[in-house]
Amino acid sequence: MNSSLSWEQFWQEWRNKEAANEEDLYFQVGLTVNQKPIEKVDFDEIYKSISDALALSSDDILAELCCGNGLITYELKDHVKQIYATDFAGHLIKAAKELKSAPNITYTRNNVFDFLENIKNSGDAVPYKYLMSNALVYFTPADLKRILSLIIEITAGKPFLFYLKGVPNDQHKWNFYNTEERKQKYLQNIATGNFTNDGMGRWWQSEEIADLCKELNLKCEVWNADPQFSGFRMDIKISSE
Ligand SMILES: C[S@@+](CC[C@H](N)C(=O)[O-])C[C@H]1O[C@@H](n2cnc3c(N)ncnc32)[C@H](O)[C@@H]1O
Repeated sequence: MNSSLSWEQFWQEWRNKEAANEEDLYFQVGLTVNQKPIEKVDFDEIYKSISDALALSSDDILAELCCGNGLITYELKDHVKQIYATDFAGHLIKAAKELKSAPNITYTRNNVFDFLENIKNSGDAVPYKYLMSNALVYFTPADLKRILSLIIEITAGKPFLFYLKGVPNDQHKWNFYNTEERKQKYLQNIATGNFTNDGMGRWWQSEEIADLCKELNLKCEVWNADPQFSGFRMDIKISSE
């Protein structure tokens, strides 16, 4: 099964309501805690940590995969020269264009694979910085291999950085499924092959990332999120050198 097609349907339908204001944007992409947008201090930590991890600078072209409605993208606009951002959910790209646009951000509605193919074939200036925030759960290891292979082709031997933020770490999943009811629901999803896992997606093992990077001759660093922000997510930095 082409998993991304089914996820595309999921994302077209999930909370598919026009975003009228800033608060709606947080609900559209699930950046909420207790039915409220996450605290500003936590939101600020997200984009600052992205800027630090990717060592963003005013010369950089950043390619953002799965940008949602541009909430995070927009905050990075002053850290780089240009951002190419993509997402396959039409209503999210519409909200991004309406509420989070800037002269140096280009939003396109696309699947990440076609987006990267387009960059590869465009002949335009090449991005050497790549970001995927809160979205690796919607991909399989084979998908990630394809994404990395495309980035390797695009950057053609020059150094690149790819930061994957907020990846649920399989080793810490019981911190998330922390009641008997949640645990049983998760086990039931696994047993019945409910591939969206109630929208949570795929839990990743850090070894899977490490093995893939080894196979592709890439370096990777994996670290757990600050427990103050999450008890079950990890962040991953993949580089060519
Ligand atoms: C949880 S949201 C994260 C949005 C944003 N990166 C953030 O951190 O707020 C995940 C996004 O991934 C997008 N997505 C998932 N699979 C995708 C794919 N194959 N191609 C493009 N977008 C995809 C969804 O449409 C959704 O907007």
